[in-house]
Amino acid sequence: MCGIFGIVTSGEKDLGPVLIEAGWRLSYRGYDSVGCATLHADGTVDLRKDVGRIEDVARRLAFHEMRGTRGIVQLRWATFGAPSQANAQPHLDSDGDLVGAHNGNVVNNVELREAFIAQGMVVRSTNDGETCVHAVERYVDQGYSMLDAIRRAYRDLEGDYAFVIGRVGEERLYALKKGSGLVAGIADGEACVSSDLPSILPLTRRIVRVEDGEIVILEPGRIELRRAADGARIDRDPEVIAETVEEAQKGGFPHFMLKEIHEQPQRAGEMLHLYEASPHVAPLVERMRSARNLYLVGCGTSYHACLLGAVYIARLSGRPAIPVLGPQFVPQNLPAVGPGDVGVFVSQSGETKDVLLALEAARSRGLEPLALVNVIGSTLMRESRAYLPLACGYEVSVPATKTFMNQALAFLYLALRMGGHSTAALRQIPELIERTISATEGQIETLEGDLAGRDDLYCLGYGLTYPIALEGALKMKEVTYAHCEGMLSTEFKHGPLSAVTEGYPVIFVSGPEDVARIVSGVNEVTCRGGRAIAIGEEEPRLRANAHDLIVLPQAGPLLNPLLAVVPLQLLAYRMSVARGLDPDHPRNLSKTLTVD
Ligand code: G6P
Repeated sequence: MCGIFGIVTSGEKDLGPVLIEAGWRLSYRGYDSVGCATLHADGTVDLRKDVGRIEDVARRLAFHEMRGTRGIVQLRWATFGAPSQANAQPHLDSDGDLVGAHNGNVVNNVELREAFIAQGMVVRSTNDGETCVHAVERYVDQGYSMLDAIRRAYRDLEGDYAFVIGRVGEERLYALKKGSGLVAGIADGEACVSSDLPSILPLTRRIVRVEDGEIVILEPGRIELRRAADGARIDRDPEVIAETVEEAQKGGFPHFMLKEIHEQPQRAGEMLHLYEASPHVAPLVERMRSARNLYLVGCGTSYHACLLGAVYIARLSGRPAIPVLGPQFVPQNLPAVGPGDVGVFVSQSGETKDVLLALEAARSRGLEPLALVNVIGSTLMRESRAYLPLACGYEVSVPATKTFMNQALAFLYLALRMGGHSTAALRQIPELIERTISATEGQIETLEGDLAGRDDLYCLGYGLTYPIALEGALKMKEVTYAHCEGMLSTEFKHGPLSAVTEGYPVIFVSGPEDVARIVSGVNEVTCRGGRAIAIGEEEPRLRANAHDLIVLPQAGPLLNPLLAVVPLQLLAYRMSVARGLDPDHPRNLSKTLTVD
């Protein structure tokens, strides 16, 4: 997820301050690198870009001095390709006649780039935003108008993305949406387009929401919408927005945590799309499959993904994988580590010191480090031999939600590939997560009233749902400050059962294969007066034995854990809010832990 913003004005203006302000509002979407381009009436382009956050880069490159009739700013959240000056956006075409920037992922980037180089185009980076510019250049060079060139580029560029592009000598900008967010705004003598609302609202409240497969043509004071497929004009009246900038930044949700829970279907779909087309997946799968020993290493939420990953890998590929907490790796596993071993180090931030120390120690004994990481350009990405991105974009809220979903899904994807199975069934995942959110949100609301006052509860799972129970309990602890312990359901009777008194809440996460075992646990609790809350697919035994059943869509044992985590995230969120807490910033916690 990156951020793009483009503006067209009537006559040459000081666009620098406008672009800086828009870029600053988009900075929550990406901060690896930033760039601004302005197009002048005399046909010249001023392009300034570099690695770093907008505050620093804007000052260093004096963005505030930039003038023009049109301007573009882009904030990059790298997915592939390290953050670098060359990969920073916007990009020029071969002759410097076109300038553009994108947000999203062009999954056939490598093939297209090679084709453009073979055709003699000047390709300066490995970034897929540049590929969007050359994809248009190819048709402009053949004599097509900008609109028709963009329509043809739309057919060539695969993936989920949006881009904005301008051509010297014209008074317009063009933008295209295909899977990534895009909003246009109209003001007096100006028109703008952006990845999201907050960067537009300081300029205008008259906006037009762009749909997938649509091209926006921006001219001073007006916009025109065209269908990319056939070029037909689309009539859509602008709406007037009443939201504040802050409300808009949260996408209409009261907190980033809830917004990020709701983002999960989209992010999961994007990551799968990327993996399906990525040349990096097959070699990584091969290294994992042929490893002497395979370790999965992480902390906190990322460790829970490793636990689930180990179950998936053993079940689907028949080879063991050893999940380890980062700091436990050295005392427990290091003595046995040697050449031929492979470690998959998992981290949202890519900066967790506990994980990096384990990597360093393991590598010194010959282990090959691979990574699953959300922050491209992070230390973990740089230290690993190969990595796959989690492609979640910036996760703002301290409790990890969408990054856990994609970590778990990445492991399921890799496990299927390691076992030589088809990954086609995963394509239904975005829709299933969407259905889970809508089906369970109401059920959670009724529960939350009863549970919000509890300071002590358990969350239990078995088999594939054991890691989900741990993750649900962690979410609950992080944002409600209640004590919530996650454990294997069958262990509960070996001690913790003594805590159960009248009404004591115990959550059971049940996979479709484990209902009988879960029901035994449920009865051990209910016969002592405890309140058993089950999360699982509709099932008569769960329905009959538990007090409450939060019903998940039917998805089968492998996909069930990915859905089961959703109501736990939602429950933790709602309990936090009911207690008057701020789930985005839990006390004492930090999103990135770079200390021992
Ligand atoms: C911190 C965060 C947790 C996170 C853990 C690992 O404790 O508060 O939410 O799960 O670090 O972070 P990582 O960035 O390595 O996934």
